[in-house]
Amino acid sequence: MRHDRPIPGTAPTHTPRFLQLHHEDRAAAVRDGLVRGLLAPVAVTAPKYLYADLGSRLFDAITELPEYYLTRTEAAIFSAHLPEMAARWPAGATLVDLGAGNCEKAARLFQALQPARYVAVDISVDYLRLALQRLQGQHPGIDMVGVGMDFSPALTLPPEAVATGLDGKENPHVLFYPGSSIGNFTPGQALTFLRQARAAIAQGGAGGGLLIGVDLVKPAAILEPAYDDALGVTAAFNRNLLLHINRLTGADFRLTDWRHVALFNTAASRIEMHLEAVASVTVRWPATAGAVPMNERHFAAGERIHTENACKWHAADFDALLRSAGFTATQAWTDAKDWFAVFWAQG
Ligand code: AVJ
Repeated sequence: MRHDRPIPGTAPTHTPRFLQLHHEDRAAAVRDGLVRGLLAPVAVTAPKYLYADLGSRLFDAITELPEYYLTRTEAAIFSAHLPEMAARWPAGATLVDLGAGNCEKAARLFQALQPARYVAVDISVDYLRLALQRLQGQHPGIDMVGVGMDFSPALTLPPEAVATGLDGKENPHVLFYPGSSIGNFTPGQALTFLRQARAAIAQGGAGGGLLIGVDLVKPAAILEPAYDDALGVTAAFNRNLLLHINRLTGADFRLTDWRHVALFNTAASRIEMHLEAVASVTVRWPATAGAVPMNERHFAAGERIHTENACKWHAADFDALLRSAGFTATQAWTDAKDWFAVFWAQG
């Protein structure tokens, strides 16, 4: 019998709660932001739009590709060091999963961390519903909350999800940000995010902290195939963004006009994903009452839309970043090849 299963009649049985922090009334703002990005001198789109609908499933497929070492390397680090990590974690924590998706990574920590509450945060609460309902069935003793919010502009956790401890107990917050999602941020944005994470941890009880996965710098010959796989799944993931932009803005992007480009920018220490026009093309979208009057953009052959950054860190630099954000006690675990690191940063 699993020891995290409550003894009948003695442990509370929870049902998941769900909160959606923004709604369809943001559609106009979303359209406006996307159009502004398309009209910028170097066209750019926010990475979050890659992960909607089919995009999230394509990303799940990416994690299984032989070239995409990140997910399995991180999982191996967790399996190898779980007991050591657990020794640092506070009891009865509120585990906040940032970008929870299918909730699988956090669920693997439940046994070792024994959280009192699990708060799964993702851009869409709908994507969390099924996963949380399933998990709740397996862990009836954990209070589960699904929160639909975009924390990329600012990480402010809704008080109704995290504020009070259960049964009046201490309520330390453990923030979980796996997968090197932090790589989507530039170093400056990452510092801002880590400061906000520290503030969120400070709102909880003593002993809380941040558990974060970070992909490390390595040769371009390993990095680039991870983002441009032989099967073409990452290309599909990137090009699928155009279909999503068409839905959100009414634009007329044609998939055949665009090809996937992934390259390691050594100076900026990041993989960049772009969509490159294969021929001269004009993209049009309906004029709206929004702030942007323009309703088309011409792209010359070879011109690109910058769709995602995946920053790669040296472990020592990331440790310094954590300290700049105000964390004082840090520890890192890596794999045998030093390809990936998992950090625990005490709040
Ligand atoms: C989800 C941001 C961590 O940067 O490796 C994978 C995204 N994009 N392949 C990454 C991604 C293309 C991924 N993160």
